[in-house]
Amino acid sequence: MFIALTGTPGCGKTSVSRLLENEFGYRVVHLNELIRSENLFVEEDKQRDCVVTDLDVVKKRLSVMEESEKPVIIDSHMAHLIADVSIVLRTAPNELKNRLEKRGYQPAKVDENIEAECLDVILVESVENCEMVFEIGTTDRSISEVGGDVREIIDGISSGHPPIDKFKPGSFDWSGEIF
Ligand SMILES: Nc1ncnc2c1ncn2[C@@H]1O[C@H](COP(=O)(O)OP(=O)(O)OP(=O)(O)O)[C@@H](O)[C@H]1O
Ligand SMILES: [Mg+2]
Repeated sequence: MFIALTGTPGCGKTSVSRLLENEFGYRVVHLNELIRSENLFVEEDKQRDCVVTDLDVVKKRLSVMEESEKPVIIDSHMAHLIADVSIVLRTAPNELKNRLEKRGYQPAKVDENIEAECLDVILVESVENCEMVFEIGTTDRSISEVGGDVREIIDGISSGHPPIDKFKPGSFDWSGEIF
């Protein structure tokens, strides 16, 4: 089973999934790295520092990993377009701004991502594409706290008791903060 660990850039997907992989032995695919290392992209947008992918090609590449029972976490802002289960990390606009500015993102790119977060873009896409959707807040929380929530969800799914109420989607509303 594929489990998407998704969310707006800067929400902490890679930090959390690395922790789960290295400290707790979860199977993780860091999709951006895989796409670049195996040239699974259609074209590279150097100006925007991103690649354009063909989802069917990516899905075909991933299908060989799905044989075992063990869940596979997909770390990517488009993982929810591939997986049946989506875990969406959410970060308040101010904190997201700080994290993206620290990374050296240009103001236009920071604004674009904050707007996407305020408009729930990835959450909405997840609800449209996935059978099960969970939401986790990362604002003022450590990577290990967020990782603990992700473990609770994945282990709950594996044991047949997903914590649906605790991580119900729709818990965050930053629609009033769009500028
Ligand atoms: N819970 C957290 N608290 C504080 N800082 C965090 C937290 N999670 C991530 N960060 C920091 O935010 C930055 C972005 O994190 P990360 O690279 O994991 O995000 P991402 O969701 O994988 O982004 P992208 O979509 O661009 O790959 C990093 O500098 C990381 O250290
Ligand atoms: Mg990342």
